[in-house]
Amino acid sequence: MKIEAYAKVNFTLEVFGRRADGYHALRSLVLPVSLSDTIEMDKADEVTSDAGYDDDLCVRAARAIGAGGVKIHVTKRIPSGGGLGGGSADAAAVLIGMNAMYGLGLSREKLAEIGSGVGSDVPALVLGGPTVMEGRGEIVSRISLPVLHLVIAYPEVSSSTAEVYARCSVRENREPDLTRMAIEAIGRGDADDIAGASVNGLQEAATVLHPEIANAMDILADAGAMGVTMTGSGSCVFGQAQTPAMASEIAAKVNARGMAAWDVRTVSR
Ligand code: C5P
Repeated sequence: MKIEAYAKVNFTLEVFGRRADGYHALRSLVLPVSLSDTIEMDKADEVTSDAGYDDDLCVRAARAIGAGGVKIHVTKRIPSGGGLGGGSADAAAVLIGMNAMYGLGLSREKLAEIGSGVGSDVPALVLGGPTVMEGRGEIVSRISLPVLHLVIAYPEVSSSTAEVYARCSVRENREPDLTRMAIEAIGRGDADDIAGASVNGLQEAATVLHPEIANAMDILADAGAMGVTMTGSGSCVFGQAQTPAMASEIAAKVNARGMAAWDVRTVSR
């Protein structure tokens, strides 16, 4: 069985107070995008993976679902440490694949619940489309939105999630609801409003730690992307384009300045 594991961007990431369990309460609009890893799975006696990480979320996901063994082969395209949720996307794909392969008949909501023990972004990525994520990531609801054309740039620096959260300044109030406002702007389809709606509460802390991120934002904006914002705890940044052709042109300009970039569109399973 072969499944695409789609990366995500956090179109919004609102960070509130630190919780008793040490995690921060979040509100985020998570958008899966067409940059993906490919996950191949075959039934086997044991759970094995060739992803090659110390803490392989594919293996943790397969063990968490507890259906049986599986041999997992990962073709990696999503950069690690970039805030694109690559490891979580792979884990979500394993949950979806094993559910089908072993005929478990579990709902996406049940798979999301199992995934919340594997990684913060797994529940949202199991739902497989635009999702509002709250709590520390375990409260998810799928929504419908028009497709966006985005360009992602990768400044080749790995940003530590724990370090960025430790240095971020949290918001006191839940209002205004910037995530709701972004959803409404995307729904209306006005390019300027959409460009003004993306926001990330971790961006300042991450750019102080890694000036390369601010540089990538400048390069992406110079190339013509609108509403340039960081995703997750970084280091990748993304911006919007009006059409697929414009996204491809912007990605080529960023590439020409020696930086990895991908033109993508938002996707739903
Ligand atoms: O979920 P993940 O393992 O990527 O989180 C790494 C670290 O980031 C956590 O140990 C925590 O310090 C911080 N974090 C947080 N609040 C969240 C998610 C992560 O403080 N909602």
